[in-house]
Amino acid sequence: MPEYETHDFDVVVVGAGGAGLRAAIEASARGARTALVCKSLLGKAHTVMAEGGIAAAMGNVYPEDNWQVHFRDTMRGGKMLNNWRMAQLHAQEAPERVYELERWGALFDRTKDGLILQRPFGGHRYDRLAHVGDRTGLEMIRTLQQHAVHKGIDVFMECAISRLLKDGDRISGALGYWRESGRLILFRAKAVVLATGGVGRAFAVTSNSWEYTGDGHALAYWAGADLIDMEFVQFHPTGMVWPPSVRGILVTEGVRGDGGTLRNSEGERFMFRYIPEYFRVETAEAEEEADRWYEDKVNNRRTPDLLPRDEVARAINSEVKAGRGSPHGGVYLDIATRRPAEYIRRRLPSMFHQFKQLADVDITTTQMEVGPTMHYIMGGVRVDPDTAAATVPGLFAAGECAGGMHGANRLGGNSLSDLLVFGLRAGAGAAEYTNGLSNAPAVNAAEAEAIARDMLVPFERKGDESPYALQHQLQETMHNLVGIIRTEGELQRALVDIRELKERAERTGVEGNRQYNPGWHLAMDLRAMLSISEAIALAAIERKESRGAHTRDDYPETSRDWGRFNIAVRIGANGEPTIAREPLPEMPSELRALVEQEVKIGA
Ligand code: FUM
Repeated sequence: MPEYETHDFDVVVVGAGGAGLRAAIEASARGARTALVCKSLLGKAHTVMAEGGIAAAMGNVYPEDNWQVHFRDTMRGGKMLNNWRMAQLHAQEAPERVYELERWGALFDRTKDGLILQRPFGGHRYDRLAHVGDRTGLEMIRTLQQHAVHKGIDVFMECAISRLLKDGDRISGALGYWRESGRLILFRAKAVVLATGGVGRAFAVTSNSWEYTGDGHALAYWAGADLIDMEFVQFHPTGMVWPPSVRGILVTEGVRGDGGTLRNSEGERFMFRYIPEYFRVETAEAEEEADRWYEDKVNNRRTPDLLPRDEVARAINSEVKAGRGSPHGGVYLDIATRRPAEYIRRRLPSMFHQFKQLADVDITTTQMEVGPTMHYIMGGVRVDPDTAAATVPGLFAAGECAGGMHGANRLGGNSLSDLLVFGLRAGAGAAEYTNGLSNAPAVNAAEAEAIARDMLVPFERKGDESPYALQHQLQETMHNLVGIIRTEGELQRALVDIRELKERAERTGVEGNRQYNPGWHLAMDLRAMLSISEAIALAAIERKESRGAHTRDDYPETSRDWGRFNIAVRIGANGEPTIAREPLPEMPSELRALVEQEVKIGA
């Protein structure tokens, strides 16, 4: 029987990025004994990669902005597949979450009048992103982390969760291991909040660092929860492409928000050729709006360089395929010809240093080479919009590993606000759930033992498969066959590859002992990556249309019929994934009126 240490909490929050920290703060403030468990060091989170800002309709730069416009932009960006209630709560509550962050010590850039400054970003009608230069996510993490630590929340760093435990239908805890010692650790918990981010490491080119292996998605899925919208994977249009060692590292949308423009190898501002039809709408007001795309105002507010990410990533992909790319397979991003060096260094200090140090490029004089990088997954655990409760009692999810909020495509900046709004709601939901329990769930020792044995199995196998080789093959498959442009044939091939890799993963053996053994860690991460990659491929095969971040070459139209469904993936009785089409919840007429005026999606 493998040994493990045991801890007791009301609420265990898995993941310590923006959503996890905000959830833990809220659960603890509501009296729940709360643990915050993170696979990496505290503060090392993908939240930091949301550099350009937090979207919140505060109206500091454009007083016309309000939650209704933010709601409309978000639904429009998500191609109407978003959970309307999540989009509503998000738009309504984001400003207060930003002010709260400020009260807790975050130092935002200011307008001349001393208000929080807001910058433009793709798909947002008004300048809406509260920011700290190009280090907004970092400032947010720093603030939340200090707040959480001062509240005395128990933090378990470098501790990875491998499986959730259940008492009947309900969550009863989680089992994991300390990365450093390899010792197993069991949490008895009445509720678990998943806030583990995304699955970028299943793709060859990504802005995600090593931690992002779909853990929360997989933990929920294995525990019987629904995943929705898994076909929607966001490729951020601008990642570094050169040198190879830094390929995929994010180049913030803030560069374009602050005046940067995209050009192809012929020097052409190609984005003007890619303005989609649905932005050219019928009303007189909207015609004016469409005209403004061409104006290319000095403040850059409405240029097509700032179309939503799905549009820009596809356009770059097309330019490269047409032979108009840069030498290393990207396009050019130029801010030097439009902004003075002092402005660039002040507004975009991280980008300045990143390019200088990693690529020996001075962005105040020279254009950058950029290309799409897998940045985010819109799909995730299906949750109740108000409480963040998953479909398994006692399980909650927030942030990137929760689905619904962003529909088919997330607008830049809507992630940091999502983390705060739904992190809080998940923490509150979990604390309230535990308060309402008449009897605490019990851990089933036999279940825990079986999971513990399974975690240690790779040490017993004289396996001929290396987890590193398998991850590399998975990344190539997802990049080449489940990328920006998809076809039935390629997706089916991907599914075959993933299933073969799953079988081979059953034969991985690892050498050495349990003390800091990265091969063993990866063997466990691979299980999550493979399950979630399979869910992505299945959902992508199922959705036979193009919408948002899901582009099917063989089904190029956006179809009204498909706009009525989310695709759900859940585990079947035989342990294999099953797929279902779930009708979208009915949107109230007053909200529908807000979005219908300008949105024309589908034939
Ligand atoms: O480009 C960026 O700064 C990323 C922001 C986001 O993903 O929200």
